[in-house]
Amino acid sequence: MSAIVARYSRTAIVLHWVIALLIVANVALGLLFESFGEDNVRPLIDAHKSIGITVLGLAIMRLLWRATHVPPALPDHYKPWEKLAAKAAHLFLYVLIFAMPISGWLHDSAWKAAPEIKMYWFGLFEWPRIGWIMNMDPAVKESLHGLFGEVHESLALVLYLLVFLHLAGALKHQFIDKHAELQRMWP
Ligand code: HEM
Repeated sequence: MSAIVARYSRTAIVLHWVIALLIVANVALGLLFESFGEDNVRPLIDAHKSIGITVLGLAIMRLLWRATHVPPALPDHYKPWEKLAAKAAHLFLYVLIFAMPISGWLHDSAWKAAPEIKMYWFGLFEWPRIGWIMNMDPAVKESLHGLFGEVHESLALVLYLLVFLHLAGALKHQFIDKHAELQRMWP
């Protein structure tokens, strides 16, 4: 194991783990919806939406961090294909931390009850729906509601795959290749 490990900055580390935890929580909530009856599921869905919007805010901060900082270079012992795979996974994970909340927000804005049932961020303040979607013709809105819902669900499948690859890569470098990998992103 090398003695000196290039590490991400404290801000990047905090953003990484807070976003990761919120995404795990939101995936768990999303998968639990069906096991709760229609009468009991509302608070779970409300929490899911608030967490998702929080992820969107944090994703914007993460992108701003990325645009203004150079992340530590990938270690030299990575094979070229590993560097390429790691960079591709990171890029697509960036895309997903935006695409998941945005597709959820689009889906929710096209919900027929959205004009009556307002959305509140953790019950604290009203979070706006996307106006041009909410004000569409009801039939078009209904089909968009279905479409955005399918996009949201399909992106979740891509997310599972990418998180799996991301974790598998990190754990392989740490425990099979025996290099200090987790320390790069560990608080
Ligand atoms: C980190 C961001 C998010 C993640 C990881 C996430 C993940 C998920 C997952 C895994 C499901 C279950 C999909 C399935 O049934 O297979 C789901 C459903 C849902 N999500 Fe999200 N979501 C996020 C953000 C949002 C946001 C911001 C909103 C709305 C403002 C939202 C609204 C919904 C709704 C309404 C459903 C239920 C879909 C349905 O069954 O019709 N999500 N989400």
